[in-house]
Amino acid sequence: MNNKGNTKIRIFSGTRPTGFLHLGNYLGGLKGYLDLQNKQNYDCIYAVVDLHGITSPYDSKTYQDKIREVVLEYLACGLDPKKCHLLIQSQVPQHVELAYLLGTLYPVSRLEQLPTYKEKKKEQPHYMNMGLLYYPVLMAADILLYKTQFVPVGKDQGPHLEVTREIARIFNRRFGKTFPEPQIYLTSSSYIPSLTGEGKMSKSKEGSYINLVDDLRTIKIKLARVPTDTGKGKKVPQKGGVAVLLALVEIFEGEEKRKDYEKLYLEKGIQYKSLKEELAIAIYKELKPIQKKRKYFEENPELVNEILEQGRKHASRIAKQTILEVKQKMGIV
Ligand code: TYM
Repeated sequence: MNNKGNTKIRIFSGTRPTGFLHLGNYLGGLKGYLDLQNKQNYDCIYAVVDLHGITSPYDSKTYQDKIREVVLEYLACGLDPKKCHLLIQSQVPQHVELAYLLGTLYPVSRLEQLPTYKEKKKEQPHYMNMGLLYYPVLMAADILLYKTQFVPVGKDQGPHLEVTREIARIFNRRFGKTFPEPQIYLTSSSYIPSLTGEGKMSKSKEGSYINLVDDLRTIKIKLARVPTDTGKGKKVPQKGGVAVLLALVEIFEGEEKRKDYEKLYLEKGIQYKSLKEELAIAIYKELKPIQKKRKYFEENPELVNEILEQGRKHASRIAKQTILEVKQKMGIV
């Protein structure tokens, strides 16, 4: 249905190599990747989107290490090369080629209005480059190049996915049905709040995240800094540090535990010190096996290279077909 002679359902997603992955990336992104790789008849491609990463300030000398880190974390979290394909975006040049072609169909004014673009303007006023404006178009190209049907991402990527769907519609209307309109695939925790109690967990916000590589001591220190209150009140807080702690309790210790704490809040009061201790242990319990697996792949670089090479070959095959079809339809060949 999606590619000639191929009835598999195509999945694509990607992560920027901005440093170690955090709990937001894991719970909102990777958990979705894992769900879908385990489905029958799905063809999943998961990329490290290095070309997106360079739209924000970065260090060219360490960038290859950063890219490698994401690959290691993908594998450590359980992405299995027997069930999915791993890819470095820049190794398939058709991503950029398709982005240019699609960019000619989309109004600049709409890109300027996107909330993610406006946020970047505030975050990095001295680094406003063309790549930032083009970011959603390149993302659309990533997705449409593989005629993707489902995109596992966190809620924060919703506006970008809408642009992708719109570009698919514009292209199909003008040049004939070519792309499916990809749908977002959300996990049960598709929005992980920041540990500061304001906004989302994000690499660009200091003090907001727990990394997948963090040890128990570091997790404890980070949780200790989450702002709290007296532990008691008439209404359980829906915002701020306490809400963040309760959200994490629900994810890592279960819904019942959260309900227990909510009851305590309304009656006897919560002891945040022990809540944070217990939560740190529960988080670390989930991260420990990931850290162990990461070590294994770190020590076997040849194996990782081979996995990436297989991914590149698979993706290239599909990418070449799509680019040819697009160019033919646009009258370029
Ligand atoms: P990036 O690198 O910011 O994040 C990677 C994944 O992590 C998710 N995520 C979160 N989920 C829940 N709560 C959070 N606090 C949180 N923080 C991050 C993101 O939603 C994402 O799934 N634009 C994309 C990368 C990209 C892409 C693509 C994704 C480029 N091309 C094509 C899908 C398909 C991004 O910046 O993700």
